[in-house]
Amino acid sequence: METIKIALAKGRLADLSIELFEQIGLKFTSYHEKSRKLMFTSDGGHYELILVKATDVGTYVENGAADIGVAGKDTLLEASVDVFELVDLGFGRCRFAVAGEPGVSLNQYHHLTVGTKYPKITNDYFKAQGKQIETIKLNGSVELAPLVGLSDVVVDIVETGSTLKENNLVIIENMMDISARLVVNKASFKTKDEKIRPLIEQVKWIVDSKGSVTNEC
Ligand code: PRP
Repeated sequence: METIKIALAKGRLADLSIELFEQIGLKFTSYHEKSRKLMFTSDGGHYELILVKATDVGTYVENGAADIGVAGKDTLLEASVDVFELVDLGFGRCRFAVAGEPGVSLNQYHHLTVGTKYPKITNDYFKAQGKQIETIKLNGSVELAPLVGLSDVVVDIVETGSTLKENNLVIIENMMDISARLVVNKASFKTKDEKIRPLIEQVKWIVDSKGSVTNEC
């Protein structure tokens, strides 16, 4: 039997995606949030769920190791993966912003340094404005960078704003809104279309009928 593989980002996005799939009758009863297992088969055996790191969802889907994936627009943009992005799922909402210490202006620097987990998005953003910058790639705790003099500002995801607030940083510029997206491997979309198209249509229908979205990254 030909199965459809679905790659999800471990954690909250996976939980929300599984909830969504349940609403269209696609159930993974064997899935448990706290399990260390990385593969789960759907109740009817037609779908397989694989749990990967958020930043790897696009890679699995682009290379056909998964037919479908759910990933944040942030990770898709940063990895610039070659997939079909078919549905904005509405959850996992947050935004990208340039942040720094209060009173800081981007124009005050001749040579702006930016700490970020997202060097590509950062470079693309400033390049589009004709500004030359230097990115410093970090893997977490990005907000520390301006506080200890590693960078002038940071580019990061802001959800509630509490990380910035608790570290006495402020938003200097809002860059873009992001949310979770359903992506599909380009070849699978053609070869497995009888299974993939109805699934996408049903997901779209659920997302559209909800109208409002959860405000969580
Ligand atoms: C993310 C992001 C911000 C924070 C934003 O970090 O990089 O630091 O969440 O959320 P907030 O606006 O609700 O405070 P994450 O929790 O992934 O931790 P990290 O620093 O290890 O990347």
